[in-house]
Amino acid sequence: MKKLLLTTILLGVIFYSCNSGSSWQSYSKDKAIEQKVDSVLALMTLDEKIAQTTQFTSNGEIITGPASKSDVAKYLREGTIGSVFNTVTVKNNKTIQDAAMQNSRLKIPVLIGFDVIHGFSTIFPMPLAEACSWDLELMRKTARIAAEEASSVGIHWTFAPMVDIARDARWGRVMEGSGEDACLGSLIAKARIKGFQGDDWQNLKENNTILACAKHFVAYGAAEAGRDYNVADISERTLYETYLPPFKAAKDAGVATYMAAFNEIAGIPCTGNKFLLTDLLHHDWQFGGFVVSDHTAVKELIAHGVAKGEKESVALAINSGIDMDMADGLYIGNLKKAVEDGLVSEKTIDNSVRRILEMKFLLGLFDDPYKYLDEEREKSTLMKPEFLEIAKEAVRKSVVLLKNDNSYFPIDKNKAQTVALIGPMIKNRNSLNGEWAGRGRRNESVSLFDGLVEKYKDSEVKFVYAAGCDLTTDSKAGFAQALSVARQADIVLVAMGEDFNLSGEAASRTDIKLPGVQQELLKEIKKYKKIGLVLFNGRPLDLSWEAANVDAIIEAWYPGTMAGHGVADIIAGDCNPSAKLAISFPRNIGQVPIYYNHKNTGRPVDPANPKADYRSFYLDADNSPLYPFGYGLSYTSFTISNIKLDKNSLSKGNKITITANISNIGNFDGEEIAQLYIRDITASVTRPVKELKGFKKVSLKQGETKQITFVISDKDLAFYDVNMKYITEPGSFKLWVAASAADETNEADFTLK
Ligand code: BGC
Repeated sequence: MKKLLLTTILLGVIFYSCNSGSSWQSYSKDKAIEQKVDSVLALMTLDEKIAQTTQFTSNGEIITGPASKSDVAKYLREGTIGSVFNTVTVKNNKTIQDAAMQNSRLKIPVLIGFDVIHGFSTIFPMPLAEACSWDLELMRKTARIAAEEASSVGIHWTFAPMVDIARDARWGRVMEGSGEDACLGSLIAKARIKGFQGDDWQNLKENNTILACAKHFVAYGAAEAGRDYNVADISERTLYETYLPPFKAAKDAGVATYMAAFNEIAGIPCTGNKFLLTDLLHHDWQFGGFVVSDHTAVKELIAHGVAKGEKESVALAINSGIDMDMADGLYIGNLKKAVEDGLVSEKTIDNSVRRILEMKFLLGLFDDPYKYLDEEREKSTLMKPEFLEIAKEAVRKSVVLLKNDNSYFPIDKNKAQTVALIGPMIKNRNSLNGEWAGRGRRNESVSLFDGLVEKYKDSEVKFVYAAGCDLTTDSKAGFAQALSVARQADIVLVAMGEDFNLSGEAASRTDIKLPGVQQELLKEIKKYKKIGLVLFNGRPLDLSWEAANVDAIIEAWYPGTMAGHGVADIIAGDCNPSAKLAISFPRNIGQVPIYYNHKNTGRPVDPANPKADYRSFYLDADNSPLYPFGYGLSYTSFTISNIKLDKNSLSKGNKITITANISNIGNFDGEEIAQLYIRDITASVTRPVKELKGFKKVSLKQGETKQITFVISDKDLAFYDVNMKYITEPGSFKLWVAASAADETNEADFTLK
């Protein structure tokens, strides 16, 4: 039967390609594939085409949004719809593919999607945590493993990476992205896409690659007041300079699909924004893949108030460039009527269908719809030991040491001492994966307790334990026991944080302190003992009290499956922390949104006199964050020195080479992430006080010094002028090779001629 279909398709090529005349530009730019796509299209009725533009959640295994229509089961049985998501086993995915092969007229394979965000079965640190590793190869590798696992259960497409820049810790989805910076975010976007898809579209035909999806297009992270789904009222400049670059980087890395964002920008919901979805994506960027709506976002055009009913909302969405409608069933219910009423042309639908069919061809599904469906492979792939090893490496590289007074950490294995383990996250497994944790089984993640017990099993260290309180409630019933345990110990190690439900989608908070009575417990313990605090959470927290009062803080984020082992390695000093924040930690909620590359204003604070009147500051807090972007400590100390430029003046088409020395002057081997920041002093439009332009992660033995090199060209200095033209302008620049965005010790000047 499969062969028969293929023959029909190939015959179709001959007839259809002659009359095509479509303005469709394929993703692969491969003529043979374009012809195959057109040949299938030529066989399809309008109903069949519309079904291809429809995606339903399986209503079965995993729910990621409001419930789908009740007649989904009927559509799934008919086997005609284009895509299904949220089925995560070979068995169930096979049922879906069987329906298409056995019940549908054309036997077009179904595209199976899923949110493979930070791992599938093996769960890696949440994306923001991984971003703190600044290790692009690591992130490529973890996305690769996620693709290996997901593809082994029949998934062809992940709704990842999320490349939204996020600068507001109230927004629960900060956990899902790469933080606040467009340069770092763009590099990470590329790494993750290569991991999911492979190096180019030819790799898509392998059965262990999956389509990636850059989401949420665009400016979802700019949700006003950090409230999820809220409007993003940003300037065109901010859109181009801050929010679009990671999406453009995704295109350059060959991303196969985009997902439109829920939010509006300046009065236009992204789901109905033709400029973004068609003019920018397809025309300017020459993107040939397809765009999916977010979950029920087509229908939401009615609530936004830009479509009066379902028919109008589907017309607006597809005419704007939404090729596939996720979950609300509006295309399948209304598109035909919209065509009949002249609101949508069949050619528009044809182009959407072409884009979707092309991906099915590139994945090889027309050759073998079952190629991803192999129960043996599923069994042997999920959570392979080597995947778990990389998961542990990812934890070790993502954990940020925020404070370490008097070398509280590492806790020496050879010193006979009693360590009190206190806090609701010591034995917790449930929250360690964080949100969007795929098919990862929460009870299988290694708790900090288990990790520490294993790590210290042959050591001189003795542990005593009490939870003290839980993550969210006001109950202090456990305080007395926790204090008694603390008193017996030499030092106290506390693990606290947020329940995983407190970040992720629809999880915005107006208070970003440790929830419940956790801080109160810390205050009690502090009366007796030194505290080392390990945090498991999904967003930058307001840690002002903790930073001032506990001795040491490890930000472990949500580390995933290997949490306890990876964090125990850091605590014991078997691994020296090297991660640096990819997002600023505010002093308190009143500072957000806060980010390092802000503008200077006409009345910047005078550092010598920070409270001088009528300047841009707060009466009750500093402007600076508690912990800046790019900040993170190590058990050793590094210095950066001897910054040199090979020339101080740059002309167009030329380059400047910057060198600096990094020395490890402490007592551990370690890794430093040296960051290059640039400031354009005077330009025709205001420029940020500094912008990241590159970084180097350098490994140094104790006492070792290495020279690092950065190269910049005039292109690195370009920006959008008053007419939003991307240009370079002559002028003076400053640069820093720095240990964080707040470090200005190594500065140099140059000019662009
Ligand atoms: C989220 C997307 C996700 C989709 C499917 C939506 O609610 O915003 O990020 O991919 O659900 O689960």
